[in-house]
Amino acid sequence: MKILVINGPNLNQLGQRDNEIYGYVTLDEINAKLKDKAKALGVDIELFQSNSEGAIIDCVQSSKSDGIIINPGALTHYGLSLMDALADMNLPIIEVHLSNIYAREEWRKKSVIAPVAIGQIVGFGYRGYTSALDLMVDILSEGI
Ligand code: DQA
Repeated sequence: MKILVINGPNLNQLGQRDNEIYGYVTLDEINAKLKDKAKALGVDIELFQSNSEGAIIDCVQSSKSDGIIINPGALTHYGLSLMDALADMNLPIIEVHLSNIYAREEWRKKSVIAPVAIGQIVGFGYRGYTSALDLMVDILSEGI
């Protein structure tokens, strides 16, 4: 079983970026936690981050994964090409946000990715990624 974890624009800046909202954990630290959990669960993970929508779409299209966990960053709110690419894969998708996008600015409350995802995890910081990995493994093993 292989799971692809994607982080979109500006998430490479975690740890230095808007600490009151996103905390102090860096993307490298999140990825280390994901690798540990994947090892414990006995699954393979592929980790990818880009600030460019096209590069993320290329990664989605070429991936041989069984499921995708994605924090699309601000592409959440307008990334229709990314949404189409995810939909075309016909794979289970879990959308993750560190912050609670429903408790922030109005424009953050709309996700164009949500309609192609099984569900969202929002507001739990880095724990959202590790919880998403647990959920994805359950879903791939047992079905929805
Ligand atoms: C985010 C929320 C988005 O609105 C924002 O543009 C981000 C991070 C989050 O993880 O809370 O870059 O996806």
